[in-house]
Amino acid sequence: MSQGKILITGAARGLGLGMTRYFLRHDYQVLGLDIDKYALTELDEAQLPGLQLVHLDVADEQAVQTLSRLVERQFGRLSGIINNAAVSLPYHESIRQLSLAHWQRVLAVNLTGPMLICKHMSGLLRPGSAIINIGSTRAHQSEPDSEAYAAAKGGLIALTHALAISLGPEVRVNAISPGWIDVSQLQPDRQGAAPSPEDHRQHPAGRVGEAEDVAALARFLLSPEAGFITGQEFIIDGGMSKRMIYPDGPAAD
Ligand SMILES: NC(=O)c1ccc[n+]([C@@H]2O[C@H](COP(=O)([O-])OP(=O)(O)OC[C@H]3O[C@@H](n4cnc5c(N)ncnc54)[C@H](O)[C@@H]3O)[C@@H](O)[C@H]2O)c1
Repeated sequence: MSQGKILITGAARGLGLGMTRYFLRHDYQVLGLDIDKYALTELDEAQLPGLQLVHLDVADEQAVQTLSRLVERQFGRLSGIINNAAVSLPYHESIRQLSLAHWQRVLAVNLTGPMLICKHMSGLLRPGSAIINIGSTRAHQSEPDSEAYAAAKGGLIALTHALAISLGPEVRVNAISPGWIDVSQLQPDRQGAAPSPEDHRQHPAGRVGEAEDVAALARFLLSPEAGFITGQEFIIDGGMSKRMIYPDGPAAD
């Protein structure tokens, strides 16, 4: 029996692909959106039962609006939305060289995109359903030269609680902020660098995360068992953001 129909953005690669496979395995129907035509074609050729794919730029309001009409006609009511699509490379030039075009594109895809999906798609959600925004621990911690990505993810956490207040009680809205999730085997070319043993060891949980870790939390947050949870951010990073790091040894205090 179908567990419901959910929409996942950025479904053709990486974490979105991992979550898509996970939800299909757990008897959900998935409407997957992505901007990457090559990855969409490859996934389409796999002919996974219960999966429908659409080529779309989440930052294009007209395209999102047109899609909402199509979904209403062909897909019916939704029981969940996962805003996962993003310009996922956190780094750019130093702040003094950062181009306005790069800043605006990252904000458009990573922050405006989820807003547009919620604006045009949340009306298609059944009462009692939920939205999940995929954030990042980079909303709270940074490496150099990652201002656009960090700002967009920080904004997404604020957008999450704002939406929870506006769309409740019919629809709950939460954010999942992953740390390092290994998506190297979830790319069309399978060429991404896998984490080293040291990368795994540095995590208090003993390993880098997998797409299934995030998908399992997302499944819980979409379920009625999470009915009292809304407006929250859940960090899933193997404990990395709780590790105190002093490169030259322990500090006095
Ligand atoms: N992998 C990690 O370690 C990690 C850590 C923290 C947060 N995240 C977040 O998880 C999500 C997925 O990241 P990932 O690592 O799988 O990256 P990825 O680049 O492998 O996947 C991103 C997907 O989004 C799609 N996409 C990009 N722009 C789009 C647009 N304008 N419209 C529609 N689709 C678009 C891409 O084509 C791709 O399929 C992102 O929100 C990312 O910020 C990932």
